[in-house]
Amino acid sequence: MTVLDQLEQFEEEALASIHRAEDLEEIQAIRVKYLGREGLITGILRGIGDLPPDQRADVGQRGNAVKQAIESALEEAEACLERARRRAQFEAQRLDVTAPGKPWAPGNYHPLGQTFDQVLDILVSMGYAIVRGPEVEKEWYNFSGLNIQDDHPARDMQDSFYVTEDVVLRSQTSPIQLRHMQAVAPEIPVRIVGPGRTYRRDTEDMSHSPVFHQCEALLIDQEVTFGQLRWTLTAFARRLFGPSVDVRFRPSHFPFTEPSAEVDISCMFCHGQGCSTCKGSGFLEILGAGMVHPQVLINGGYDPDLVSGFAFGMGIERLTMLKYGISDLRLLYRNDTRFLAQF
Ligand code: PHE
Repeated sequence: MTVLDQLEQFEEEALASIHRAEDLEEIQAIRVKYLGREGLITGILRGIGDLPPDQRADVGQRGNAVKQAIESALEEAEACLERARRRAQFEAQRLDVTAPGKPWAPGNYHPLGQTFDQVLDILVSMGYAIVRGPEVEKEWYNFSGLNIQDDHPARDMQDSFYVTEDVVLRSQTSPIQLRHMQAVAPEIPVRIVGPGRTYRRDTEDMSHSPVFHQCEALLIDQEVTFGQLRWTLTAFARRLFGPSVDVRFRPSHFPFTEPSAEVDISCMFCHGQGCSTCKGSGFLEILGAGMVHPQVLINGGYDPDLVSGFAFGMGIERLTMLKYGISDLRLLYRNDTRFLAQF
């Protein structure tokens, strides 16, 4: 067989195997086999010098033509295989827009957050501005400034978390009142609502938690009366619990208010008939309230001869439990989605 015949044969073989090739690796193997450094065509071209002089030109020309034919066939096949590979990839990634969706649990607004929002919405609509205060609080703002005497049980290390001798984790939101008064006195009117986290040394059980939430409200103006407090709380309770609830004031005691009251609503589970939720009384306690004690007004920078005020404070957990009939406070902190999904 002459060298030219051989070239012919290699070309035929090469083009045929390129045609049959199914992937890029095969193409690469063919390229190496014919055009690589040790390739068949490469070998012939390199051997031209050893041929008789009269054959060299023909073999050279033909050899280069074959080399180019193989190379362009390889490139074409490569492009074609690459297109096929991409098409297959797109096909595999195709999005079926008609496929049924996977269930998606979007989460829920926590019931405590919902109650907070409702409470704040009501009070803001009544003209109260939202004010915040520190959770790590000076003893004075949490106790002394609020008229809570040195021997008061709430001050006991057993009842409150002390950070140092005169710094506590606030046990109530009432210090917000005092800080705000000091910040704005002698300006009137004052109408604020102070929501936030509070801390007491309680062991967790159905109705206690060492961390809980309160919301405080304070109003100071000229000649504020207990009647206005009653009106405000009745309107508030009816908006929160429904227009048919009755509101009852029971005399009580808080060191920072005088007179003081605990406020009950008629039980919305039995409508005052008496049930297990209201323990047969027909009433549910919702908050503490009273007229701001003159000494607290003085501590806040106000003159009790010129202004008066009322304050009330409520536990958000308690309100939430009453609103939704939740019997165990701990459910509010477990973040069990089966529970939370109900709100
Ligand atoms: N701070 C009181 C408590 O934690 C509630 C309260 C606030 C009572 C304001 C009267 C006035 O129980």
